[in-house]
Amino acid sequence: MIPWKAIDRAKVPGIEGEVTLHVRDREFSIRTAGTELMNSRIHGSEEALAELACSRLNQKSPWQILIGGLGMGYTLAAALEESGSDTQIFVSELIPAVVRWNRDHLGHLAGRPLDDPRVRVEEEDVVKTIAKRKSVWDAILLDVDNGPSGLTRESNDRLYGKFGLKASFNALRPGGVLAVWSSAVDEAFTLRLKRVGFKTEIVSVRARKSGKGSKHTIWLGVKP
Ligand SMILES: C[S@@+](CC[C@H](N)C(=O)[O-])C[C@H]1O[C@@H](n2cnc3c(N)ncnc32)[C@H](O)[C@@H]1O
Repeated sequence: MIPWKAIDRAKVPGIEGEVTLHVRDREFSIRTAGTELMNSRIHGSEEALAELACSRLNQKSPWQILIGGLGMGYTLAAALEESGSDTQIFVSELIPAVVRWNRDHLGHLAGRPLDDPRVRVEEEDVVKTIAKRKSVWDAILLDVDNGPSGLTRESNDRLYGKFGLKASFNALRPGGVLAVWSSAVDEAFTLRLKRVGFKTEIVSVRARKSGKGSKHTIWLGVKP
């Protein structure tokens, strides 16, 4: 078996610890604090996050879409695939090194989505991006952690709690969709989405496009 090799490492803003980029043959892995954030072999549910959210939008594109976290760009590439030429996609990525790695090492994995003129990427906490503007986004796609429970970054709890969900609700246009990726089901989170006012649907998706692999959960919350 080919051993993993760390090709770069960087500090994670706001916390102790670092994020590393590993490579093994043609496979890449982004890790923080010993946990794998993303692996290039498995990205079916990350793509499903964008496909499902766009399929629930009842107005035709152009859309304004916000994606929080870039990772390896699979969700972004899938959102571009679903969108028309006038759609604008804004990506908030917390870790500057992840953006740099997408330009230098990872871009080919998802077809270099950052080069698409419809995309703007900002090195910013998506919590801040969401709080900035009201009633602007047609879709907010969140894949910043393992999901509402099992956080690798505690401060991401601000996204998944009552106030974070209210902020996303306010930032969406009527008919807009909040889509949240998670490695596990979380009934308390479903309840919170409903209490905030989202028409909520839970979809179970396989990690791999082939229909194989672990089951992941995607919540789709539509703002009435
Ligand atoms: C699991 S990866 C996302 C994978 C991505 N969906 C893809 O298709 O490759 C999580 C990403 O979210 C970023 N992240 C974590 N917390 C964040 C935050 N609060 N705001 C923005 N990005 C964040 C991480 O640095 C990482 O790049």
